[in-house]
Amino acid sequence: MIKVNENFLKLQAGYLFPEIGRRVRAFAQANPAASIIKLGIGDVTEPLCPAVIDAMHKAVDEMAAAKSFRGYGPEQGYEFLAKTIIDNDFAARGVSIDIGEIFISDGSKCDTGNIQEIFGLDNVIAVTDPVYPVYVDTNVMAGRTGSVKEGGRYEGIVYLPCTAENNFVPELPTEQVDIIYLCYPNNPTGAIATKAELKKWVDYARANKAIIFFDAAYEAYIKDSSIPHSIYEIEGAKDVAIEFRSFSKTAGFTGVRCAFTVVPKALKAYKKDGTAVEVNPIWNRRHCTKFNGVSYVTQAAAAAVYSADGKKQVKAIIDLYMNNAKVIRESLASFGYQVFGGENAPYVWLKTKNNMPSWDFFDMLLKKANVVGTPGAGFGAAGEGYFRLSAFNNLASVKEAMQRISKL
Ligand code: MLT
Repeated sequence: MIKVNENFLKLQAGYLFPEIGRRVRAFAQANPAASIIKLGIGDVTEPLCPAVIDAMHKAVDEMAAAKSFRGYGPEQGYEFLAKTIIDNDFAARGVSIDIGEIFISDGSKCDTGNIQEIFGLDNVIAVTDPVYPVYVDTNVMAGRTGSVKEGGRYEGIVYLPCTAENNFVPELPTEQVDIIYLCYPNNPTGAIATKAELKKWVDYARANKAIIFFDAAYEAYIKDSSIPHSIYEIEGAKDVAIEFRSFSKTAGFTGVRCAFTVVPKALKAYKKDGTAVEVNPIWNRRHCTKFNGVSYVTQAAAAAVYSADGKKQVKAIIDLYMNNAKVIRESLASFGYQVFGGENAPYVWLKTKNNMPSWDFFDMLLKKANVVGTPGAGFGAAGEGYFRLSAFNNLASVKEAMQRISKL
């Protein structure tokens, strides 16, 4: 008899974004005349910038000629891209990263989801609440949790509440945890973490032989020059942190797929007998076994993001989204909503009025304003009563959405 992996049966309902998509499709079918404005899933709307498109065309031409055609590339990614990443994202910020520490992949969703599998099932994981659901669901699938409890929290996970009171940056856990997921600039709250706040976590991880999974997918949206873009800007972080970066939100690659993960060679995990083991070769082994590398065309496109033209063009797109975020923030505030985020991140996190439950607010916004957002409760129990609007759309649609919300 074939047995199912019963861990999957512990998962609650569907994954958040397909569930939202289902509700929106049902509404659109029942109301074909409604003009729906989507500020829900953080999916980019602007096309790829010209420097990226040119590099892709050139790479396609290379693939069309026998002498420049490329088959399987290195699983960890081409050196030309890894070197460009190191120079621009790290060396330029005073962080030294070795080429063997970069693993190019097809997305941070996959990497943040997969990374847990090289660590023991008996590790205690800590997540912020609210949180990007991938971190929790992949640990449920792996069997690192018990069943779901009232309020949607799983037994065995340490939840670190992020509230307006702590600026959506959690306090250190009171119990020992082994794996800590942090995402800054934060999805969903749009909050940022200062160097001092990250140092607190690095110090905790060092003192407790824990590891930090640092998701920096939104670092390109940081405007405030005092905010760290990488956890490795904090001294000692290379001993205790893995960092995830993505071209999705940075350069509009949500449909192209390219990201990278940094696994420092100094990073150690421990055997049951306490012997220290290097994590980098284990991730390398896993990566080479389960992944055949990102396509050459995609990596050539990603490298073009760092060209002089690429940097300028990508910045212009980020500025466009951040102007949307400003319009959303300021409009909502003027309508009497309490708003957070949106200043160094493409997400605005709002408190619903009169504590309206997040999904009720979602339904009201969809039905009355034909605007799609993301219910805070979909990101965790502490997200109840909050709602996320993304800045990924064009300015006219954002303004139209705000106009409609003003009438609610
Ligand atoms: C989000 O809307 O939270 C993100 O787009 C999800 C993702 O990046 O996978």
